[in-house]
Amino acid sequence: MNSEQIRESFLKYFENQDHLRLPSSSLIPIGDPSLLLTTAGMVQFKPYFSGESVPPNNRLTTSQKSFRTSDIEEVGDDTHLTFFEMLGNFSIGDYFKEQAILFALDCLETQFSISKKQLSATVHTSDDESILLWEKAGIPKKRIYKFGDSENWWGPAGTEGPCGPCSELHYDFGVDYGCKDTNCKPNCTNVIPDSKNTCNRYIELWNLVFMQYYHHKDNKRTPLPKPSVDTGMGLERLASILQNVAHIYETDIFKPIVKQVQTITKTKNLDPDNMYSIRVIAEHCRSATFLIADGVTPNNEGRGYVLRRIVRRAIRHSHRLGYNKPILCDIADFVIKEMGKIYPELKQNQDFIKTILRGEEEKFQEVFERGSSYLNEILSSKKTIPSDLSFKLWDTYGFPVELTTEIALEAGKKIDVTNFNELMELQKEKGRSAKRFSQTPKIQLYKTLKIDTTPFSGYETIRDQAEIIAIISKKELVNTISQDETAEIILDKTPFYPEGGGQIGDAGSIVSLNTDGSDLFITDTQEAIPGIITHYATISHGSFSVGDKVECIVDETRRTDTARNHTATHLLHAALRQVLGNHVRQAGSLVTPERLRFDFSHSGALTQDQINKVEWVVNERIRHNMTVKKTEDDYKSAISEGALAFFGDKYAEKVRLVKIANAKTFSFEVCGGTHVKSTGELGSIYITNETSIGSGLRRIEAVSGRAAQKLNRTNINLLQKLSNTLDSSTVELEEKISSLIEIIESQKKLSENLERQILISDCQKLLKDIKNVSDISIISACVNASNQKLLRDMADFLRKEKDNCIVVLGSVINNRPALVTALSENLISKGFDASLIVKKTAHYIDGGGGGKKDIAQAGGKNANSLPNAIEKVPEIIQNILENR
Ligand code: SER
Repeated sequence: MNSEQIRESFLKYFENQDHLRLPSSSLIPIGDPSLLLTTAGMVQFKPYFSGESVPPNNRLTTSQKSFRTSDIEEVGDDTHLTFFEMLGNFSIGDYFKEQAILFALDCLETQFSISKKQLSATVHTSDDESILLWEKAGIPKKRIYKFGDSENWWGPAGTEGPCGPCSELHYDFGVDYGCKDTNCKPNCTNVIPDSKNTCNRYIELWNLVFMQYYHHKDNKRTPLPKPSVDTGMGLERLASILQNVAHIYETDIFKPIVKQVQTITKTKNLDPDNMYSIRVIAEHCRSATFLIADGVTPNNEGRGYVLRRIVRRAIRHSHRLGYNKPILCDIADFVIKEMGKIYPELKQNQDFIKTILRGEEEKFQEVFERGSSYLNEILSSKKTIPSDLSFKLWDTYGFPVELTTEIALEAGKKIDVTNFNELMELQKEKGRSAKRFSQTPKIQLYKTLKIDTTPFSGYETIRDQAEIIAIISKKELVNTISQDETAEIILDKTPFYPEGGGQIGDAGSIVSLNTDGSDLFITDTQEAIPGIITHYATISHGSFSVGDKVECIVDETRRTDTARNHTATHLLHAALRQVLGNHVRQAGSLVTPERLRFDFSHSGALTQDQINKVEWVVNERIRHNMTVKKTEDDYKSAISEGALAFFGDKYAEKVRLVKIANAKTFSFEVCGGTHVKSTGELGSIYITNETSIGSGLRRIEAVSGRAAQKLNRTNINLLQKLSNTLDSSTVELEEKISSLIEIIESQKKLSENLERQILISDCQKLLKDIKNVSDISIISACVNASNQKLLRDMADFLRKEKDNCIVVLGSVINNRPALVTALSENLISKGFDASLIVKKTAHYIDGGGGGKKDIAQAGGKNANSLPNAIEKVPEIIQNILENR
């Protein structure tokens, strides 16, 4: 059976048992900030197990893309992988232990001809029930073993989630395999005699988790609403058994990739060391391809760092094979060809994947050689690599510390990483410190106010009454503030939106409700510390005191313009995903009344056609006047219903959701910003700019509403003005300008030719006015060349006309003095140097220059002194001759 048939047989078997087949979710766990990457099939179902969301069916089955980071340094041996596919069946409060056990044995027997005789089971020490169930299902008691938490307890994935005791099926290769110890059993750690490998008689095949508890962040466990089942079987491992091969790299999944690496690197000697490196490249490149397809880009933190680590480890192993050229893109192409049918996202993102890999490879290749020789130096002189040197290798040469460790261990050296993290922190701290120190005293001040949150009423209203509860002036709490002074005002509630989620803070005014008519301007609103909103104020009339009742009036025009741009940002995000693909993810944004800026992951510039398309899609949605619906929900259910969240952001339990939809949803995001009621309010949007802001990141700028109209009007006015000036209709303007440019170009050529003729006739005159120093002819003069090229051409012409001659010409070009020196050929062989002469002459025009031995040029500051500099030339030459 090839891997495709294995995957299909598994899923079909469970479909026939009333399981709903669902697609694999992304390697980036959606809506689970506690988890770096998707590590198992159950990750996308966490909210179903916990009862937060209702599953589409109580029985589910998937083949899930999974990634585990714990064994990266082991990859290359026979068993470890980073990326793998996990086959699983899930019961969300439906069947439990007995049925799960029966399904597993039946599936193995009927689909894969693996009989009970070849299997052993392990159970958790507390789970006597499962022993009976395995026995009842046909596994003899002597092949059922008990293990503790480290082997037979699963979960949670991340810092919280469902968990429970698990029971594993181990495939037994038989007594002829492994350590041959009579007590050999699953999870055996004996070393095989005469080898370094651990016992491989048993291979863990299928893990059945009996989910019973929810493990909370504070380590408490509470029962799940209903006992459930989560199972997982590695496709690659199953394939190696069914295809009767020694290990995963011999399966149809890996063999072609391994072969391709071998071919590209031209590795003939397939000794264990070389095979190890070949496997590392094959495995890491396959994993990197999948990670990038799901939107992970290289970074120094989080999942981006995982990607960087495996990419750099692969490059290092390619160098180890003596192959120093880029390799990753070629392997990625191959992986995409092999696996793109099952995982279309690979094909959809092929260019993106390759651009990211190419960029990362180029970046590291550049420093790799230097870093390696530095590391080799250290390895030859030290027994242990201290933290500061491994930090330098990371900081300067981009060697992830895990890579340095691996290389050191290979060389039989030790590495001390105790201070490595401290050094990393210190470096980050340096960047932050200035800002932080200036803020610290103020943060303390906000804390002394002893308020938890400032209630925000600005979603419903832009005018509200409130009470002043604190005034901060010059970093101190004060009681009263008077006319023309500035201060921070803190209210018991506010309609002013504090800057957040990319949207700038509201401005407006506050009027005292006392009869004295005092008022103040709010220039900005910020969240001072989480939950507390502060208003930056300038008092226009009268005074304000703590305890005053006030009326808050948000600047409506500014707020509406901003809201339009915020809704436009969501539309743009959805349109970019529609046009470019789902790898597009928000990386940052700025929403102001005047414009919006949106940063997102995508490699390569957008074509004009793509920009037009995105803009068109957004404007279509505006014309459809879609409803912008705001709701509140539990973060996890929102995400499981498909709301997009800004990855990496921390969200509260309850989040605000913004959905743009008519009958169909176009955009659905977690967002705390202010928005319009329906898209028609935007009028239209225009994309004004599209640029790169780093590897794999793009930035789009756009305008909507009034700014869009203004932009359009300005452009139309400009077009009309140009049409009038150029006496053409706007439609023919482009053609008209092209023809004018053509005329200008040909006129320019004509005038240059004329100038050249004049200059040549000037040159003829100069040839008649030659000075002599010793036996050398000197032609030095001020001329009227309008550009540097003509000046050079003249000098070049003269040096070829006259043997044994030095030419020094000066001209004022664009109000600045310029000099060119040229020597006839024979003087160069006599050791003269035009650049030396031009430098010495340039001294008189307050300038400097250089060039080649035959022709050199200089510029200066003082145009008035050019004649004097030219006058000095014979004297300069005389000096040079005397000093020879
Ligand atoms: N969650 C379990 C595992 O990953 C079973 O799927 O092993």
